Amino acid sequence: MKIFFFVLLAFFLCHSLTFASSLTWPKANNPYQTDQYPEYEKRIQELVEQMTLEQKVGQMTQVELNSITPQEVRDFHIGSIFVSGGGLLNKNRKATMEQWVHTADQYWKASITAVKNLPAIPISFAVDAVHGHNKLFGQVIYPHNIGLGASQNTQLVHDIAKATAEAMLDSGMDQTFAPSLSVTQNILWGRTYESYSQDPELVSLLGKSAVLGYQGSIHTPLGNGRVAATAKHFLGDGGTEAGIDRGENTSTEEELMAIHGKPYIAAIEAGVLWIMASHNSWQGQRLHGHQYLLTTILKNQLGFVGAITGDWNSHAQINGCTKTHCPEAINAGMDMLMVPYGWQDFIHNTVEDVKQGRISESRINDAVSRILRAKFYSGLMEAPKPSKRFSTGVSQSEIQQNNKALARKAVRESLVLLKHDKETLPIHPEKKILVVGELANNIGAQTGGWTLGWQGDDLTNADFPHGTSILKAIQSEAKNVEYSTHGSFHSQPDIAIVVYGERPYAEWLGDRRHLAFELESSHHAKILEQLQAKGIPTVSILLSGRPLWLNRELNASNAFIAAWLPGTEASGISDLLIATPQGQPRYNFTGKLPFDWPQAPVQSKPEAQAHNVSSLFNFGYGLNYSSTAKDWKTLPTDTLLKDIESIFNVDILTDKISSPWILRASENKKNDVQLVNNRIQLDSLTADLKSNNSQAKLQVHWHGTQKAKIHLDNLNAYTNYQDIFLHDGAIVIEGKILGPANKKVLFEMGCRGVEYCNRFADINVSKVFKKRKKNEHFSLSVSLHCFEKNKIDTRHIGRAFGLETSGKLSLEITDIRVQSQPKSVDFTCR
Ligand code: BGC
Repeated sequence: MKIFFFVLLAFFLCHSLTFASSLTWPKANNPYQTDQYPEYEKRIQELVEQMTLEQKVGQMTQVELNSITPQEVRDFHIGSIFVSGGGLLNKNRKATMEQWVHTADQYWKASITAVKNLPAIPISFAVDAVHGHNKLFGQVIYPHNIGLGASQNTQLVHDIAKATAEAMLDSGMDQTFAPSLSVTQNILWGRTYESYSQDPELVSLLGKSAVLGYQGSIHTPLGNGRVAATAKHFLGDGGTEAGIDRGENTSTEEELMAIHGKPYIAAIEAGVLWIMASHNSWQGQRLHGHQYLLTTILKNQLGFVGAITGDWNSHAQINGCTKTHCPEAINAGMDMLMVPYGWQDFIHNTVEDVKQGRISESRINDAVSRILRAKFYSGLMEAPKPSKRFSTGVSQSEIQQNNKALARKAVRESLVLLKHDKETLPIHPEKKILVVGELANNIGAQTGGWTLGWQGDDLTNADFPHGTSILKAIQSEAKNVEYSTHGSFHSQPDIAIVVYGERPYAEWLGDRRHLAFELESSHHAKILEQLQAKGIPTVSILLSGRPLWLNRELNASNAFIAAWLPGTEASGISDLLIATPQGQPRYNFTGKLPFDWPQAPVQSKPEAQAHNVSSLFNFGYGLNYSSTAKDWKTLPTDTLLKDIESIFNVDILTDKISSPWILRASENKKNDVQLVNNRIQLDSLTADLKSNNSQAKLQVHWHGTQKAKIHLDNLNAYTNYQDIFLHDGAIVIEGKILGPANKKVLFEMGCRGVEYCNRFADINVSKVFKKRKKNEHFSLSVSLHCFEKNKIDTRHIGRAFGLETSGKLSLEITDIRVQSQPKSVDFTCR
């Protein structure tokens, strides 16, 4: 009895330490108070009572368009379909608005065709319309959020969201996975450009405007030419360690609330109907399974009455869950899960969970009520078929002209002038202008990720029939323009405009380990310097998803403009660059930095704060024509590769196995077992991690009874080793032979967990382990080139290595690291 009491006491103490905090999160002033809509609430309750368990679980499932037919939507009572970043309609990137709306009609019709006498509930159709209706061919693409953050213009953000909603409705879609409310703290993060700013206040203001733009201010958006918004990603996505996508946020709860939580209060107050849970974890727990943040805080404390929706298979990252089975997520408070494919198994398993009591019926009813509420309040329940929902009565060509003007204005307001030697700008239209750089004539680079495709990295100008490149924009304002990709010219120009920057990326593929631009090639810095040496003033236009460290380019520019990812309407750039015939500016610069600009290549906000390093330019900085010109002090450019060497060398085994790597083992490709209490014990393999303060030793014994493998996996996030790969990197393992190998030993490498890459490759490394003496030192190094050679993308490594043998082998491993340019490499794969 006594023991029971102590166990209970310990449980409550732990529980209260983890979940009950002294912090009070505010209550948001939600315009959707359920008691003000008694009629809807009554209908919701009636529907829930009439629905079968299978139907309810179907409503809680969101499936990718290409893995479900209209008939299946009806048969399985699916709640929502969405088109993924890379998803196409009929395998055609150029699918027309008519084709989209026709498809939407079919799915909608199926959803409202009752099965037996069950209630039929219209399906929602979602898309990542994050900078305009970017999935639809021929649309106007607006600046990514980072540029809108620079504009600080709430009305502009509202108007863009409204125009996007209208375009979506015209193509049959009614829910956008936007706005992103990420408050990015570390600009190494690949999703920095989806974030308005590092400043929670600015993100709150612009996020709220976006929600109002998408949804309108009253409760039937669809009836008013608006769509349902989805604020994402809740919570702390912009605050992960080292800016790793889907990584770990270690903030205190105070920081979490003040920095990342704030914009959600604003979005709830604007009436947002959906909130998407995030891929990241907070203090070790994945958000999709975080009951405290999802239920206690978001629903109960902040008062969110809409539905929490999942992100791409993210529930599978919760301990014990798979893509098709995860009662933990639903119990934690997830109302709908994004199960892009394999959804039949998910529905089956979830229904079983309820039948077996692993999920309560009341939780299911609450989830479905919230989904129905989002559908009622958005007007979806009463809306006619998609093709009949909305029309502005204005022709598509007129809509396009209006949207082009809106986007052009947005581009103008998003440009931030970082440097300006007197009288460089604006450029008189009669001057001879040299436009330099491949990106000057590359609309895909202007639009960035989440454009037509997911990464947006394979687009050509032909994909934007109505878009304007920077080159074309300049040519239409000035008469005497010469274009060259590398800076050569036929006759000496009066001025050169040099365009360069990052290539498109999305999500973790854009994660960086440093911010230095063209660190080794300095290609554009050299072009700028050569032009200046010939007496030609230079104007730099940087296309990028984040601030970058490019002191050399800044020094060699007479004017420098951060243009972010401006979208299809580059005329907004020439508006500011080219003067009137009288030589006057046509517009002034108004953009202000939404993020601090780094002083050093490895500087990002958290590190800068920790080491008290000031920025080169602070948040809010931005010059205009009336700024008092200060003399430019030449910036230091002597950062050599060795100064940032540490980022090209990563220790995995030191005094412990460093995060995110987890040691696991398996036999005969089965039974993945994880290191627990520093031990793995299988029939055919034992592993022990022994550590003193500074050095860990990993002893692994293969007993030779059957094939067994140890492997080092990253289960939660994707590790991007591309830059180390580009620096001739290798995986290096060192230690002592305790007993040599008597059979073949295979080294395995791979990327896993991602649909886009789920491959492993083997290399025979027996020579390192066979015929060796006891206690002899061994070193095994395998070039990262071997990954790429085996079609394994080093941008998302999921398994740093595996060692497998069916024979005997005993090792004491004392060092595992990823190292650039090691002295010698055993396996080069060249
Ligand atoms: C992203 C979300 C996006 C979803 C659907 C996920 O991988 O994290 O932001 O809405 O995919 O495309």
